[in-house]
Amino acid sequence: MKKFFAMLIAAMMILSAFAALAENGTLTMCTNAQFPPYEFYGDDGETIVGIDADIARAICEKLGYELEIKDIDFDACIPGVNTHKYDFAAAGMTVTDERKEQVQFTDTYATGIQVIIVPEDSEYESIDDIVADKGSVKIGVQQATTGDLYSTWDYEDEGLGTVDRFKSGGAAVASLQAGKEDCVMIDSEPAKNFVAQNEGLKILEAPYTTEDYAMAFAKDSEVYEAFNAALAELIEDGTVQAIIDQYIPAEAAE
Ligand code: ARG
Repeated sequence: MKKFFAMLIAAMMILSAFAALAENGTLTMCTNAQFPPYEFYGDDGETIVGIDADIARAICEKLGYELEIKDIDFDACIPGVNTHKYDFAAAGMTVTDERKEQVQFTDTYATGIQVIIVPEDSEYESIDDIVADKGSVKIGVQQATTGDLYSTWDYEDEGLGTVDRFKSGGAAVASLQAGKEDCVMIDSEPAKNFVAQNEGLKILEAPYTTEDYAMAFAKDSEVYEAFNAALAELIEDGTVQAIIDQYIPAEAAE
């Protein structure tokens, strides 16, 4: 009997050692998965696919990690990374000086452009046209995104309008369609997807601003160096561009 318990304990120790190994072998990515083509639910309605998910998968494969993806609110991504709840965030996230104070960013792997969505019959060519005409503008955004920051700084803080903040870009677009916003400020590729999926909307020709996307890690992350090195290699060998091309056909890209 004693021998049996000794063996059982030995077996349990071996098992838990394996469990620990497997645990080290998983990286958890957080994102907000209503941001096509960077992250969205695939046809099965369960798997998160898109440019960010595919790049992260390729990096994890290269480094021998399993990848787990968690769909959370966008504004929870940086706090979640900093408290080590998640190993990193990949969410079409723009590199900004403010965010750099909180997290460290990988190399840039894509360019984002902030654009303005308006109703199709709108005669305005810019947000400023709306302000000039109406005296004030109502802008819908996804909470805590750069679209939110620019709208807040450039219009709300200047007394030129109000910003309505939503949990997702899709919710902001729905509010525009319901006639509650004059426009939505959001990244151009998701904007194209939302306009294609919803009738009666268009994107203003003049882009608001251009930005760089990168993945975010806690400043004391232990995997950051290896992860970023793997990303750099995948950028170098064309894998990243191939993934982007899969989701953004060259003809459709600006
Ligand atoms: N690029 C913008 C930002 O960094 C929007 C990102 C939103 N991402 C998302 N997965 N919903 O603020």
